[in-house]
Amino acid sequence: MQIVSPLVKLKFIALFQSAPLLIHAPGRINLIGEHTDYNEGFVMPAAIRMGLNFAFGVSDQSQSSIYSLKYHQLHVLDLSNPAKVETPVWVNYFLGIIDRLNTRGLKLDNFNCVFDGDLPTGAGLSSSAAMECGFVFGLNKLFNLGLTRLEMIYMAQWSEHNYAGVQCGIMDQFASMMGKANHAFILDCRSLEYEYLPLELGDYTLLLCDTNVKHTLASSEYNTRRNECQQGVKLISKKYPIVKSLRDVTQPMLQVCKEMLPEQIYNRCRFVVEENNRVVEAAHDLKQGDLAAFGKKMFLAHEGLSALYQVSCSELDFLVQFAKQETGVLGARMIGGGFGGCTLNIVHKNNSAPFLDSAKAAYHLKFGIEMSSYVVQPGAGTDVLIE
Ligand code: GLA
Repeated sequence: MQIVSPLVKLKFIALFQSAPLLIHAPGRINLIGEHTDYNEGFVMPAAIRMGLNFAFGVSDQSQSSIYSLKYHQLHVLDLSNPAKVETPVWVNYFLGIIDRLNTRGLKLDNFNCVFDGDLPTGAGLSSSAAMECGFVFGLNKLFNLGLTRLEMIYMAQWSEHNYAGVQCGIMDQFASMMGKANHAFILDCRSLEYEYLPLELGDYTLLLCDTNVKHTLASSEYNTRRNECQQGVKLISKKYPIVKSLRDVTQPMLQVCKEMLPEQIYNRCRFVVEENNRVVEAAHDLKQGDLAAFGKKMFLAHEGLSALYQVSCSELDFLVQFAKQETGVLGARMIGGGFGGCTLNIVHKNNSAPFLDSAKAAYHLKFGIEMSSYVVQPGAGTDVLIE
């Protein structure tokens, strides 16, 4: 059961004078398995308790209205014309969903919606997936559209590709929709088979250190990495025709192909092949309760993301290096697409407060920027909020 932020409900009643349907859509963390989802590999995300709340109701007006409490903006839209807009940018995530629903021939009546939440944007916690998932889930409930969670996940991803311009994999939308309280899960992004893994951290806790930077090349470089991986697949498949994605490539195969690949492409492929193996082994560590082994893999994953895949930045690298030297830290790495956002850290509870204090001080001294921090707990997936 979620705790209702009364704000969306109160605002909805104030604006539309009726009692709304309430929905919560969470953000996500990713324990390990970065940039593997669009290579048909493995990821290990968890939905988190931080997320977005939505209030929905049917409208008797000739247009639909969406109000963002965060931006204090009301956007009025015509359901028959969900074309992308210049401003406000946030509405595009929703317009993409409406476009999909229209294309599927699903009948929507006009509606009102208010949304808000405690999920920071640009922090690598998938606030955009939470917007897409909460919105499609709410409309599905409100109008009894009969969509499955998987269908909604694909619609949410489609909206990200076509209305936000990021050719993302499936992880974020899947995690926001399918998360389970106190669990992470390992997802095979090829078959979409998944297994929930209890997150029993004992004396340890999950801490996010937010760099509070988001370098502008994030989405263009993301799409570039996707292309580089595809180039790798094309070249490797000349030697090994069974290779359809980097998921099919083993370390020995990659060694055989090393000379055929431009160095940068080789490095990208090497990271993905190693990262896939790490996720599978890390799931084993979790099942064995071996958090120390798990944490070491997080550090290795970060090294690969920084040196081979080149999606880190000096702020993220600094925080991971800092964490490595601190007492009580088992593992740390950047999470999400990269070029800013958060590091995820597994830290002993007794060391959490001093760790955060010293990280904040060191980060400020180095970059002149405030670091934010969050204690994260794995939470449930997108659902109706029970008051
Ligand atoms: C972003 C994308 C995901 C995934 C991660 C990197 O969050 O939306 O699909 O590719 O980056 O692992």
